Amino acid sequence: MSHLLYIEASPGELNSHSSQVASRYIESRTQSGPVTSVQRLNLWEETLPAFDRKVIEAKFAVLRKKEFSTDQLEAWTKVKRFADEFCSADEYVLSVPMWNFSVPYVLKHYIDVITLADVNWIWSPESGYKGLLKDKSATLIYSSASDYPLGPDYHPHDFQKPYLRKWLNFIGVEDIQEINVAPTLAAPDTLASVKANATEVAQQLGQSAAALHGQHAS
Ligand SMILES: Cc1cc2nc3c(=O)[nH]c(=O)nc-3n(C[C@H](O)[C@H](O)[C@H](O)COP(=O)(O)O)c2cc1C
Repeated sequence: MSHLLYIEASPGELNSHSSQVASRYIESRTQSGPVTSVQRLNLWEETLPAFDRKVIEAKFAVLRKKEFSTDQLEAWTKVKRFADEFCSADEYVLSVPMWNFSVPYVLKHYIDVITLADVNWIWSPESGYKGLLKDKSATLIYSSASDYPLGPDYHPHDFQKPYLRKWLNFIGVEDIQEINVAPTLAAPDTLASVKANATEVAQQLGQSAAALHGQHAS
């Protein structure tokens, strides 16, 4: 059994290409194998705390193994709530449109808020950086007007896919699968074929992820 957290970074709601394919993936995943719960986190509906001077001071207090001041504790508690919620999931699904070659600012804000020292990564002068998340998987559903194909050799202008992979690896998530819905700025028949292909991939990956999690659970 597995807790799935669906992070929606497109403001498009039902019209979003990436969210439509993500919904198909989640449907296939939940129909093919047991999931304890599915939590949807639409980043456009969240009020995320600012990652301001107090949180930054708290972060460096953690890294320098110093006690929090009252202000730092208060600031850290606000961001840690989101980080704890993120860390409690077993499987992640992210629907992510490309914005200016990277990700929408709400997703960058969320990543800054939840990527916390001693919560999902650690650092020491001797050992450097180490991700703390273990045995978690992520399915990334990308969308873009132009076509930036999946890696390993990402397009040099693509800061969406390599960025998300790097961030997930940094916190310890190694098991990553990707679906690309692109190009979306295309003639209707091309777009229909792009969507049909991506939906088919989502259907298949949902089934294989369910089989994999079934093996882990048994
Ligand atoms: C602010 C903004 C910036 C964008 N920047 C890019 C870009 O750099 N490259 C690209 O191919 N598409 C870009 N797009 C287009 C979207 O990635 C594209 O419409 C995508 O299909 C939207 O996905 P969604 O329907 O899931 O929201 C941008 C769209 C917006 C609103």
